[in-house]
Amino acid sequence: MKISSMSALALAAAATTMAAPNPQAQALKPLELTDVSARIPFTTMPQTTLFGFSLKDPNTNIETKCSSYWSIGQAGNMSYNCTDKAYQLKLPNGIYNIEEFDFGIARADGSESGRSTLKGESWKCEKGAEEPLESCEWDGVFHLNIAKSG
Ligand SMILES: *[C@@H]1O[C@H](CO)[C@@H](O)[C@H](O)[C@H]1NC(C)=O
Ligand SMILES: *[C@@H]1O[C@H](CO)[C@@H](O)[C@H](O)[C@H]1NC(C)=O
Repeated sequence: MKISSMSALALAAAATTMAAPNPQAQALKPLELTDVSARIPFTTMPQTTLFGFSLKDPNTNIETKCSSYWSIGQAGNMSYNCTDKAYQLKLPNGIYNIEEFDFGIARADGSESGRSTLKGESWKCEKGAEEPLESCEWDGVFHLNIAKSG
């Protein structure tokens, strides 16, 4: 009797452990992007924008850097490897307006991705008479929400 109640307790404890949330099923934490900046470095046409940032993924603890070099006239839907090729920077529509454009980040294995727009008060842009023609920086850390892409 005593032994069987002990094992019942052990089984109950084991069941509790098994029922602990599966990390795969939990919401992903947003990616943390720092030093987010874009600039139009040259006055020459076609207009080219350099864009980049440092990325930290709190879900994997991976840190890497991502950047793109896009000129008007190139295909709009572009993908760039980050320094760690497990991550890719996406420009879904190119960059026609440095003060407001869409970008995305995806894991190369398809396990997570997110998309957002750089614009608004925290996206601080300055125009120059000389090169760089214009440069913008995000004030603070940019949090990019990501989700499983299925
Ligand atoms: C952009 O590329 C992705 C794959 O990288 C594709 O799923 C999507 O349909 C493309 N969008 C357009 C507008 O071509
Ligand atoms: C990105 O990395 C993948 C895997 O290493 C490679 O196949 C692909 O060509 C790279 N893409 C670019 C644009 O460099």
